[in-house]
Amino acid sequence: MAEKFNSDTKLAPEELAKHLRQPDGETGKQIGLLMNKSNKHICLNSYKVLTPQKEDHILEIGMGNGFFVKDLLNMADNLTYTGVDFSATMVQEASLFNKKLIDNKSAFFKEASIENLPFDDHSFDSITTTNTLYFWPQPINNAKELLRVLKPNGKLLVAYRSKSCMDQLELAKHGFQKYESHDVEGLLSNAGFKNISTQIIKEPELEFDGKVFQIEGIFTTGIK
Ligand SMILES: C[S@@+](CC[C@H](N)C(=O)[O-])C[C@H]1O[C@@H](n2cnc3c(N)ncnc32)[C@H](O)[C@@H]1O
Repeated sequence: MAEKFNSDTKLAPEELAKHLRQPDGETGKQIGLLMNKSNKHICLNSYKVLTPQKEDHILEIGMGNGFFVKDLLNMADNLTYTGVDFSATMVQEASLFNKKLIDNKSAFFKEASIENLPFDDHSFDSITTTNTLYFWPQPINNAKELLRVLKPNGKLLVAYRSKSCMDQLELAKHGFQKYESHDVEGLLSNAGFKNISTQIIKEPELEFDGKVFQIEGIFTTGIK
């Protein structure tokens, strides 16, 4: 059966789009929980494509409520994770959901924007970001900011749904910048990434406002 999205909240598309971009308050928390269902496959697949290596320090941009961080940290020994999101509500939720990981110093969460990351140059072995690209305010500059905080040879993974997929959704008419994989490859290349490649992974059907959609996750990687 198709996964359902927005069958309970019944928010108008503009309002839903606003909370997908920056979840806020009680409604934002509900949207965060809905995203854990509708984005489960793309989120878990993004971590598989990232293939973390023992002792890596990983940065995630826009982790939402960080529900899947535990799955990432189980993928190799002694990983450390930093999650950055510009939604105070999501940082609060992620900190609650991942209290044990924070207490044992394997996970950290910070409120910040991709535009100006509060980290030194060459801080992370890899960076992952899922379903945030649509909202990057200055895509080339933002990709360069990711490049800055990556270590030499570090990997960036950007996971998203394609323009043709997003065009099926009414909500994506409100403030979403949409991309096909060749646009994202060009963007990463212009920002200075090397060895760029893309994988596509089909997902189960998603039911949204009574309609069933065929969706797939797109995973574009680049190396510093
Ligand atoms: C659509 S949600 C995706 C959440 C999760 N990654 C997923 O795929 O389910 C987008 C998340 O990115 C965050 N975000 C959007 N723009 C951002 C920016 N400029 N800097 C940091 N976080 C941002 C939002 O606050 C939100 O939590």
